[in-house]
Amino acid sequence: MTQAEPLIRTISDTALLAAVYRARETERQDALFRDPLARRLAGKRGEQIAESMPFSDRNTWAWVVRTYLFDQFIAEQCQQGVDMVINLAAGLDTRPYRMTLPATLKWIEIDLPGILSYKEEILANEKPVCALERVRLELSDVPVRCEVFAQLGGRADTCLIFTEGFIIYFSADQVRALAEDLAAPRTFQRWILDLASPGLLRLLQKNMNISLSGGVSSLQFGPEEGPEFFVPCGWKPIDVRSPLKTAARFKRLSFGMRLLSLLPASNGRQGSRPWSGVCLLAKP
Ligand SMILES: C[S@@+](CC[C@H](N)C(=O)[O-])C[C@H]1O[C@@H](n2cnc3c(N)ncnc32)[C@H](O)[C@@H]1O
Repeated sequence: MTQAEPLIRTISDTALLAAVYRARETERQDALFRDPLARRLAGKRGEQIAESMPFSDRNTWAWVVRTYLFDQFIAEQCQQGVDMVINLAAGLDTRPYRMTLPATLKWIEIDLPGILSYKEEILANEKPVCALERVRLELSDVPVRCEVFAQLGGRADTCLIFTEGFIIYFSADQVRALAEDLAAPRTFQRWILDLASPGLLRLLQKNMNISLSGGVSSLQFGPEEGPEFFVPCGWKPIDVRSPLKTAARFKRLSFGMRLLSLLPASNGRQGSRPWSGVCLLAKP
């Protein structure tokens, strides 16, 4: 492999990177969560990709704390009685195997065919704790996704959707349209997502070499409006949690980042401030 050949060849390779950070977290004494399947899923290629991304490697805390915050939100929503969870762009996530969930919970993983086949092959002998299904879907295919959402919506009483590490790869117009499509089924009641500010987006575009279309960064979405972006699309932010403050609480930050974490919490417009939030949205 020459330097010029990018290690990330398709968008689904980013799922390997996420699995590497979950595997490394699992191997720590003070792990915030344990994902025993992550190491196998990440594989050697995952580690090679991680090693080629020093910026991301220095900021592992951001990936780990994001997973931790999603775990918390998902557990809370399951306790409140959702009967279906849809993980949009699930990648190599293994929550149906590692979390304590009701056996009757319907859990749907949606992603592109290649990554889901890779995952199924590796997990062939593993047993999920709930009723897991996988749907191979190109999420930018609007008519097909609307059909899938309508079908799933019809099988649920209260459905939680989550998108972890996904919408940053869509343009603002694509995210808006997706948000509207997710607002359509009556039973789709909650949505957990992670969001970057314009300042953080620029920092990531500069430092993370994820460009799949002719040198243009694949990282695209960091709205000026912050979580309020979703209000005109039918979703109201009801809880926003700070990865930075969470990482500070668990003593996972460098000195410089610790100083940044002392700034007052703010969930509105951030402009150039590098900000991220894990947001719980509800139908108004
Ligand atoms: C950074 S990974 C995150 C995976 C997983 N949510 C996690 O946190 O580990 C991004 C995921 O988005 C999926 N993805 C990107 N664009 C997609 C599209 N148009 N349709 C379906 N999945 C897509 C990729 O295949 C990949 O699994």
